[in-house]
Amino acid sequence: MMADATPASVSRPLTINPDGRLAGRIALITGASRGIGRAVARHFAAEGAHLILTARTQGALEELDDEIRAAGGQSTLSPADLTEYDTIDRMGAAIFERFKRLDILVGNAGVLGTLGPLAHADPQEWDEVFAVNVTVNWRLIRSFEPLLRMSDAGRAIFVTSTAGHRPRAFFSAYAASKAALRMMVLTWADELKNTSVRINLLNPGGTRTAMRSKAFPGEDPETIKTPEKITKYFVELADAACARNGEIVEVPALLAAEEKGTK
Ligand SMILES: NC(=O)c1ccc[n+]([C@@H]2O[C@H](COP(=O)([O-])OP(=O)(O)OC[C@H]3O[C@@H](n4cnc5c(N)ncnc54)[C@H](OP(=O)(O)O)[C@@H]3O)[C@@H](O)[C@H]2O)c1
Repeated sequence: MMADATPASVSRPLTINPDGRLAGRIALITGASRGIGRAVARHFAAEGAHLILTARTQGALEELDDEIRAAGGQSTLSPADLTEYDTIDRMGAAIFERFKRLDILVGNAGVLGTLGPLAHADPQEWDEVFAVNVTVNWRLIRSFEPLLRMSDAGRAIFVTSTAGHRPRAFFSAYAASKAALRMMVLTWADELKNTSVRINLLNPGGTRTAMRSKAFPGEDPETIKTPEKITKYFVELADAACARNGEIVEVPALLAAEEKGTK
């Protein structure tokens, strides 16, 4: 397993507001074991959501679950390799059985693959990158659309990347998969525009995680923003009051505008 660039020790203690913006909302977060997904899970928990946490690394999910419960929050663990697609269908059935709805879906789990010339990409790794970054998210859409429609205000957020819309040499399968994810999600958002479900993408920009360290090994992680800095934008898109649909929230531009505003 890759070392986590955002260990639990650097996060602020978790305080739960049971009347927060996401109070009582049922939220499934993929890739919750570390990095951006873990930080989003902690912020959603702080806002009162009931979390369903998934990733492959059971120990990391248990640690997060312990922290959330100790703070008085609620979470359910569902450790899985999501590329074993049937597990997604089983998760859908279990969530229906228990909650009869899903309020928030965060499709965050992703893999970078190996950066390098397209012509040299390893075929097996190419398939793995597309499996995690595209097909898993389609299987989530397939399994969870009915449950999101059962919510009074279903919200779905998928995590994209600048690499998916601005060509950058050597980003290979990662760039192509994020471009595919973007069009898939925008297509789905258009399909459901006349429902109460709201579907958006979020581009976090460079964020201090294991994936970022793998992509830019020479970079000083201290110069890159932490995942905690961006989680409020996920909360906005997850809120029942959010009216946006079919948009790509560009976090770097929002943060730059905020910084300018405070100077
Ligand atoms: N960090 C950045 O600068 C940046 C920039 C733009 C976009 N993004 C996007 O942000 C998202 C989160 O990335 P991150 O930076 O937080 O990366 P990360 O620290 O590497 O986390 C990736 C997460 O995905 C999970 N995952 C990977 N393969 C999986 C599988 N087969 N089944 C289930 N879970 C799986 C990992 O959990 P396990 O290993 O425990 O399964 C982990 O929780 C990704 O979609 C990434 O493309 C990141």
